[in-house]
Amino acid sequence: MGTALIHGWIAAGITSASHIRVLTASPASAHALHDHYGVVPATDISDATAGADFIVLAVKPFVMPSVLPNVADAIPANATIISVAAGIPISTYEAAFGSETPIVRAMPNTPAGIQKGATGIAFNNAVPHEKRETVVELFNAVGITEVVPESQMDAVNGLSGSGPGFAFTLIEAMIDGGVLAGLPRPIARRLAAQTMLGAAQLVLETNHHPGQLRDMVTTPAGTTMAGLDVLENRAVRAAIMDAVLAAKQRSTELGEQYR
Ligand SMILES: NC(=O)c1ccc[n+]([C@@H]2O[C@H](COP(=O)([O-])OP(=O)(O)OC[C@H]3O[C@@H](n4cnc5c(N)ncnc54)[C@H](OP(=O)(O)O)[C@@H]3O)[C@@H](O)[C@H]2O)c1
Repeated sequence: MGTALIHGWIAAGITSASHIRVLTASPASAHALHDHYGVVPATDISDATAGADFIVLAVKPFVMPSVLPNVADAIPANATIISVAAGIPISTYEAAFGSETPIVRAMPNTPAGIQKGATGIAFNNAVPHEKRETVVELFNAVGITEVVPESQMDAVNGLSGSGPGFAFTLIEAMIDGGVLAGLPRPIARRLAAQTMLGAAQLVLETNHHPGQLRDMVTTPAGTTMAGLDVLENRAVRAAIMDAVLAAKQRSTELGEQYR
């Protein structure tokens, strides 16, 4: 996820590679990021954070407890912490850094790497207004951003955090459906992915209800209605709603151990 953000921020021109310092578990990873994106490998946590306005924590959640004490000793004055770790509540960072430290809990998704991300963010009380705007700009540079109360972050995780996995499954099924119907796989792949992209873009750009857009393409006794009948009989909408809810509940469960 950290790599997707680096890629997105540099490609969007929100910052230059020379302003991003990276610290990874193995120096080889940081050097690979340098070779690929031009970011600066840091020698240690103090080197990584010196003079930083923003410190992005993008380790796996189970690694986070072991890195927090090191980060706590190396936070420059006025730096804002942005964590993208799933499930870990703001209170965990406040316990490690103090509640006066500005903390952002963010849940981006990997399409951020191509500026098509969807990010939910929650702030602690210490993040000043102007910093909130900058954080929103950072995530807007790699897609769209919604600021939510922290109580809704597990729901964000269930919807847009886990959503790319659901979307890839749907696209894969559409491709297989196209092949089943007789199309060559490369053609089915392009048509399926572009159809999902175009439909999603219509929802965002027209602001119409998805049901309204669906009604507009559904001729009485037509082809789309025949397919929709199958989706309704197989309870596909209910399955997708349950998938989001299951992912949200899993996020809550995973977060319990850090509370
Ligand atoms: N993947 C997603 O779609 C997604 C979406 C939203 C949020 N997130 C969140 O993003 C975070 C990272 O997930 P990921 O899938 O990107 O994991 P990942 O690919 O395993 O990347 C984790 C990075 O953390 C580095 N690291 C591990 N231990 C470290 C330490 N002690 N000090 C410094 N760096 C250390 C690793 O370095 P090495 O490269 O040297 O191993 C690696 O670069 C998680 O908290 C996850 O919840 C992920």
